[in-house]
Amino acid sequence: MLDRQPRPTRRRDRTLASRTFPTRESHLPDARVAPSGIASRTFGRLDHVRVPTAIDVDTAAIRCHGHVRHTPLLRTEVNGRPCLLKLEHLQRTGSFKLRGALNALASGERPTQVITASGGNHGLGVATAAKSLGLPATVYVPETVPEAKARRIEEAGATLVRHGVSYAECASAAHDAVARTGARYVEAYNDPDVVAGQGTVAREVVREAPEVDAVVVAVGGGGLAAGTALGSDGGTTVAVEPHGCSCLHQALAAGEPVDTDVDSIAASALGATRIGDVPFSVLRSANLTSVLVTDDDILAARDLLWEEFRLAVEPAAAAPLAALVAGRVPGELPCLVLCGANTTWTPSA
Ligand SMILES: Cc1ncc(COP(=O)(O)O)c(C=O)c1O
Repeated sequence: MLDRQPRPTRRRDRTLASRTFPTRESHLPDARVAPSGIASRTFGRLDHVRVPTAIDVDTAAIRCHGHVRHTPLLRTEVNGRPCLLKLEHLQRTGSFKLRGALNALASGERPTQVITASGGNHGLGVATAAKSLGLPATVYVPETVPEAKARRIEEAGATLVRHGVSYAECASAAHDAVARTGARYVEAYNDPDVVAGQGTVAREVVREAPEVDAVVVAVGGGGLAAGTALGSDGGTTVAVEPHGCSCLHQALAAGEPVDTDVDSIAASALGATRIGDVPFSVLRSANLTSVLVTDDDILAARDLLWEEFRLAVEPAAAAPLAALVAGRVPGELPCLVLCGANTTWTPSA
């Protein structure tokens, strides 16, 4: 287990400016692995990303205002330990993904068309964000996408294109369409504006409960975790991954993003094969604790959320509670982000 200890300082300097360079894909198959090194070294390829800052999260909060719900905070305790639950699964679309998509689409020049590739929460977030901003959107999904998810994306007003059996094939078709049409492609996590948008979740937490000293989130490609590191005013970010989907944990150990295998009950949300360059450029120097949990821990935590609180979430959203129950969360008063509820799971009668 690779737990990086919190730094003593509680608040961080929020005045650092963004560095602006072109971003690049990191999760597509053609992404190359940089040479090995330690976490503090400077990597050539990561120097070419624009690193978002806390100020970008403040700007994102202004852009998102009126389009996203300020989700409730529940003050409670679990196994006698005080904690807060951020009920982000009550967000429009059922996950935080709407925030990053909205911020990306509302920043820069207004696009005439929007494209993304995702059959999951990100696709639904982009479809809904585009509709909120009056923009036409096309969402590419693999042919294997569950019908319920495809229907929700279409109901959100997007054109759905089913293409290929793998995510990589579907994403490649989406990028071809961008090259043909000049549409704005919205990344799932490897984009500074998406990261800043996701950071508005933690920003709401620390504005409402400044005594919170650790914000606990699940990690896929790292957008939510990186945004949390920026939005939580220097508190600890606890980044939780299943053992079978641990691209951040492995990147921290290697000192750089590396390709990883994916196999977990939460893979549909947390199954990025490689941490994004943009999130990693934030997380490698953040006040971060990286925690791994088992699939059994995640399922037990999801059941606990239902049994104790009558909260129904998808497996990814139970990962923070799994880490807390396992005793792996630092801090006096942690806040667990329940990040999504897009599941077909229903409690038995
Ligand atoms: C419910 C849920 N939680 C967490 C994540 C991980 O987010 P990120 O890729 O920003 O790390 C996702 C990604 O799709 C998600 O849908």
